[in-house]
Amino acid sequence: MAEQHLAVVVLAAGEGTRMRSRKPKVMHEIAGLPLLGHALVTATQLGASHVVPVIRHQKDLIAEYITAFFPSAIIAEQDDVPGTGRAVECALAALPADFEGAVVVTSGDVPLLDVATLENLIDAHLETGAAATLLTAILDDPAGYGRIIRNTAGAFLEIIEDRDATEAQREVNEVNAGVYVFDAKQLREALAAIGTHNAQGEKYLTDVAEVLVKNKKKVLALSVTDNWLVAGINDRRQLADVALELNLRICEAWQLAGVTILDPASTWIDVTVQIGEDVTLMPGTYLRGFTTIAEGATVGPEVVMTDTEVGAGAHVVKAHVTSSRIGEGASVGPFAYLRPGTDLGADGKIGTFVETKNAKIGAGSKVPHLSYVGDAEIGVESNIGAGTIFANYDGVNKHRSTIGSHVRTGSSNVFVAPITIGDGAYTAAGTVVRRDVESGALALNVSPQKNMADWVLQKRPGSKAAEAAQKAHKAK
Ligand code: UD1
Ligand code: MG
Repeated sequence: MAEQHLAVVVLAAGEGTRMRSRKPKVMHEIAGLPLLGHALVTATQLGASHVVPVIRHQKDLIAEYITAFFPSAIIAEQDDVPGTGRAVECALAALPADFEGAVVVTSGDVPLLDVATLENLIDAHLETGAAATLLTAILDDPAGYGRIIRNTAGAFLEIIEDRDATEAQREVNEVNAGVYVFDAKQLREALAAIGTHNAQGEKYLTDVAEVLVKNKKKVLALSVTDNWLVAGINDRRQLADVALELNLRICEAWQLAGVTILDPASTWIDVTVQIGEDVTLMPGTYLRGFTTIAEGATVGPEVVMTDTEVGAGAHVVKAHVTSSRIGEGASVGPFAYLRPGTDLGADGKIGTFVETKNAKIGAGSKVPHLSYVGDAEIGVESNIGAGTIFANYDGVNKHRSTIGSHVRTGSSNVFVAPITIGDGAYTAAGTVVRRDVESGALALNVSPQKNMADWVLQKRPGSKAAEAAQKAHKAK
């Protein structure tokens, strides 16, 4: 149900200088989504009538992402006046002029904030009729955050930014999480009253709270118990810390859902991945993007898998797999490279040192050793001999090969595409297949082997090979 009187503003206009990156801070990824993506997913799940990301720094790039993945968001642009307060003012300007109700403000650099925490904050805000309700956290190391200043009775007074704080204020370890609920009307009025008299010359959103308190409005500051939920990312150390924590939480959730994960510390799972019951994930496994693993499959050790569908009971070990499908009960690896468009049928096999691309390999068919299969279709229950190359590229164009069902091809074959090998055909070892092979035929290149007697004795006299040959002759 869409909340008609709820707007969520997501701040993402800052430069993020502490990241020291060409990429905007909010576009750095953890668990497969940009930081901003995490914040917008949460905002969207709140069911607000308006979700308003505010952008400015590298705005085209960020707007492109928002438009592609969150098309109903209303993008607001911040102008030349810097600061989180100005950013919110610009967001309010993008809302319908008569918008009334609650305005939630979150940051594009706080990715672990969840829907439940925001819902609790909104409920407290509405129940108490507060003008503003903000989230705080008690940190062992509060450096860098705005400090929550309370009076002796414990009532909220103001937020002082780290840079503007006195020594005594810096000792305070309750910090502003940067997550707020405001009454829209009171927020508008308070923003109009604040200036830029601070160390950064910015219009701080945090000053709104102080203005409201001075005007005798009710401001609540509620603390979270799980500090990770409000961890802000400002540099790459924090990016890694938060990514690690999020990953451990993702692994834990899958463990509780029936997935065996031997080593969560070396298993990385994107938020977009789906995993069935009784799947086993071995150490060194990366599951990325829209990967789905069906029940009972085993993945790893050492697998990097992106946008791939793995069927029930399949086995994948030491493999790099992208945009592929691995059928039920199939087996892949070790040392396999499945490139986009690989489709391995049920109980099929892609074995060791095998590379595949745009290859449909039918049910029960096997490519066990040392081969390249590109732009090919193989029927069911066929076996491709060791060391086979599908020569799909003539230097200008790519061509397809079609191999039938129940085919047996010899070792060290080259299939010069385009070719077709019919059902039940065989090819001999070392065959270069340049012409189609009809069903049931054996293809071989007729160039009989010739042995030149005593070539070694004549051409390599005195060598170890010649000595060995002489010895063998004498023994006869
Ligand atoms: C801010 C808070 C601080 C709080 C901390 C929590 C202010 C003044 N300070 O500090 O009290 O403890 O978050 O993480 O609000 N942004 C804009 N426009 C701007 C500046 C920033 O949209 O002009 C956005 C940034 O892109 C970012 C968010 O606002 O997503 C926070 O900005 P940041 O510079 O990281 O503020 P902090 O110093 O962390
Ligand atoms: Mg920050």
